[in-house]
Amino acid sequence: MDKFVIEGGRKLHGSVRVSGSKNAVLPVLAATLLTDEPVVIPNAPDVSDVRQMVKVLEGLGSKCERSKEGVLTVRSAPVPHNEAGWDCVRKMRGSVAVLGPVLARTQHARVSLPGGCVIGVRPVDLHIKGMRALGAKVDVDGGDIIASATGGLRGEEMYLGGAQGPTVLGTANVMMAATLAKGRTVIHGAACEPEVVDLGDCLNKMGARITGLGSPRIEIEGVDRLHGCTHSVIPDRIEAGTLVIAGAMTGSKIRVEGCRPDHLMILLERMREAELPHHFGTDWIETMAFDQRKKRAKPTDVTTLPHPAFPTDLQAQWMALMTTADGMSLVTETIFTDRYMHVAELMRMGANIRRQGASAIVMGPANLKGTQVMASDLRASAALVLAGLVAEGTTEVHRVYHIDRGYARIEQRLAELGASIARVDDDPDAIATDTAPAKETLTPAKATVLPKPAATKAAPALKTNPAVKTSPARASAKKPKAKAARR
Ligand code: EPU
Repeated sequence: MDKFVIEGGRKLHGSVRVSGSKNAVLPVLAATLLTDEPVVIPNAPDVSDVRQMVKVLEGLGSKCERSKEGVLTVRSAPVPHNEAGWDCVRKMRGSVAVLGPVLARTQHARVSLPGGCVIGVRPVDLHIKGMRALGAKVDVDGGDIIASATGGLRGEEMYLGGAQGPTVLGTANVMMAATLAKGRTVIHGAACEPEVVDLGDCLNKMGARITGLGSPRIEIEGVDRLHGCTHSVIPDRIEAGTLVIAGAMTGSKIRVEGCRPDHLMILLERMREAELPHHFGTDWIETMAFDQRKKRAKPTDVTTLPHPAFPTDLQAQWMALMTTADGMSLVTETIFTDRYMHVAELMRMGANIRRQGASAIVMGPANLKGTQVMASDLRASAALVLAGLVAEGTTEVHRVYHIDRGYARIEQRLAELGASIARVDDDPDAIATDTAPAKETLTPAKATVLPKPAATKAAPALKTNPAVKTSPARASAKKPKAKAARR
């Protein structure tokens, strides 16, 4: 298990290129099951969720190959296997996206029911409702979704939104299934996220007939078969947003290249309100340097909502930013109302945050101090890394496999921007046996489940980037196992 060791307080500079979108590529990978011809994805990000999805596809009989240049080619079997078991679905919820394609292609699918996860209850009732609307018989038995459509799926007009609004992967699942259904499907209440549009663009390249992408009404005219294609997925808007927040939070001039500012207008607008200087062009965003001793971000509220409103996947990072703002701000999470695992850890670093229902009140400015914190989910980990960049002293972020799920080599890329961040082997004894992170209801001191950091704590032995420096005090401490360059 790895951890990141971050020495805070450095300005960043330079430029960084955004990877292909994790949340776009996962359904695109599922869509490869709709044809036995090769689908080529030149820019699939090298993150562990993608590697996991590749394993799921291989389990269904697909041949997957990644070239040295990173081009991922997937060829589904002439008749794919139709069972994706608990072992794969448990590791990554996104694998539920194979349900629609497998059902459409083989008329039978058995996919394990994903459980809840650390960001809250995540039901799949809308996925099931959509498949039923397309004429499938769907049962849930022994923890599996068992769907069959003997004679094939048929197009239908349906409303797919739920109590919490539209569903991204649910829309993707039904859209994929409907491409091979007989007749016309209309999805009302469809998700408008750029990742859904990107999947639709890929499916259209494969021969599907989909219109209305990016609107809440998607229409799909079923076709007999789909064929292979080459499809570059959209840049990762959440990775781009995280890097932009890193620039803003450290008061640095950095350029985030190869992104889609039009997918991030809400973030840029909130940054404008927070008086965080930045500008952008068609495929880049630049944050401007400023002196944080003289100027702080203006407290700015956000409420997470479906696209184009503020994304839940940037909520934790925005909260980290707001801990340094000059006053009180309110963060409200309406998509996954329990997605607040980062709160307790930010408080351990000195943030002053209070939970109230689905909201968190952030009282800034906090004088963040480095300590040991526990990553609990992908975006919470990103928030802790951001906090570490501005904290005084050393922050150790444990369990960074969470961040590896969706950010490719984030520590190297931040180090290239001038951050002091290293990946090192974690000392298992340093991690509390209790797998749950500290609760935010406890005071920061009482919430501590880890041994004391800094001077007495083991220092990183090997840095992933030569630019990374280790403080002399830390260098003399006990060294954990050296980490070979792995990614
Ligand atoms: N919902 C239902 N029933 C369903 C499906 C969803 O009630 O059958 C509810 C959810 O509980 C939630 C809301 O609908 O309250 C929206 O969930 P959605 O289905 O849109 O989430 P998802 O498709 O499972 C994707 C991303 C998430 C991202 C959400 C929201 C992927 C692989 N995952 O999840 O990404 O937060 O959309 O934008 O695309 C992440 O990358 O860190 C991440 C969690």
